[in-house]
Amino acid sequence: MNYRMLRDVKVSAIGMGCMGFSHGYGAIPPEEESIRLIHKAYDLGCTLFDTAEAYGPYTNEELVGKAVKPFRDKIILTTKFVPVFQPGQEISEGKLSKKGVANALNDSLKRLQTDYVDIYYEHRVPLDSNVEEVAQWMGDFIKEGKIRAWGQSQSTAEQIKKAHAVTPLTAIQSEYSMMERMFEKDVIPLCKELNIGFVAFSPMASGFLSGKYNTKTQYNGDDVRRVITRFTPENVEKNQPLLDLLNQVADKKGITPAQISLAWMLHKYPHIVPIPGMRKDERVVENLGAADVVLTDEEFNNIEKELAQIKIYGNRTDEDIHKLGSVKAMDYKGEIIS
Ligand SMILES: NC(=O)c1ccc[n+]([C@@H]2O[C@H](COP(=O)([O-])OP(=O)(O)OC[C@H]3O[C@@H](n4cnc5c(N)ncnc54)[C@H](OP(=O)(O)O)[C@@H]3O)[C@@H](O)[C@H]2O)c1
Repeated sequence: MNYRMLRDVKVSAIGMGCMGFSHGYGAIPPEEESIRLIHKAYDLGCTLFDTAEAYGPYTNEELVGKAVKPFRDKIILTTKFVPVFQPGQEISEGKLSKKGVANALNDSLKRLQTDYVDIYYEHRVPLDSNVEEVAQWMGDFIKEGKIRAWGQSQSTAEQIKKAHAVTPLTAIQSEYSMMERMFEKDVIPLCKELNIGFVAFSPMASGFLSGKYNTKTQYNGDDVRRVITRFTPENVEKNQPLLDLLNQVADKKGITPAQISLAWMLHKYPHIVPIPGMRKDERVVENLGAADVVLTDEEFNNIEKELAQIKIYGNRTDEDIHKLGSVKAMDYKGEIIS
């Protein structure tokens, strides 16, 4: 495993996104299986584990807290608060108030069985919110020792600059993959300039870039692939040239398309750390193994040149995901998880 810096926080070059163990990708594994896979990632050198109060909600933090307890002080544990109330959080000041966030943080700490969060993210940063004020609260939580650092998710360059001027940001966690490159034009270069890490979520474009899904694949329960447009059968077909490119490069190098897609972003930016989701032994090995893949400049430049010619169809938006409503995850037997 190679390691990278998110500002002054050292993490494995590839982290583990833990959301899918409770939320967002349909049938979830039994708890002991999820814990085993998290331990497997740690044994392979992974030291960055990501969760959020919204995953479940709450159940993913409980699971991750339990799983990482034996090695809590050896890893970087990241979680997030959302700016809107989750069940049971109503307080008169509103969620996006110092009291609202402080309560959410205290509850996250309890669920995670820890007394500090390494990086605490604002999960979404409303355009009409006062980012400086939130940055001030984060600075206070850092002084209190409840969090070691903070970050934002899916924020704009403007929001990052304003917040960073008040309390320096350690990481921005936003969507980035070969299929979603919107942050290349401003946020990713800005993070480099300000020495802020960029944590890439959905780095495998929800699995598409592994090449293991096709127009016949069925998605159930709360699986976002039922509603995000990247996975409509028409778009899966139209995006085939991207998989052809990945397959061709991967075959030549004797590795997998998933590994190429992760190695590409690691080569491209020194401050990027992808956090794929993965719930099978072979995928944990495959994805974390991409940290050791070295692309030559020639290989990388060829990929870039080819990518520039390929049009991407569909995407993954919060608006589409909300169409799932309150659909719950299911366990492996198809039982709804309450
Ligand atoms: N900040 C935010 O707003 C936000 C939003 C979304 C996600 N996240 C975080 O980012 C993490 C990663 O996001 P994501 O789960 O969407 O990432 P992703 O890795 O792009 O997609 C995960 C999906 O791809 C599949 N997959 C991954 N590697 C694979 C491989 N080698 N072969 C075949 N299939 C593979 C997974 O399969 P299986 O799991 O079924 O094995 C899962 O269905 C989340 O866990 C969460 O922590 C943050």
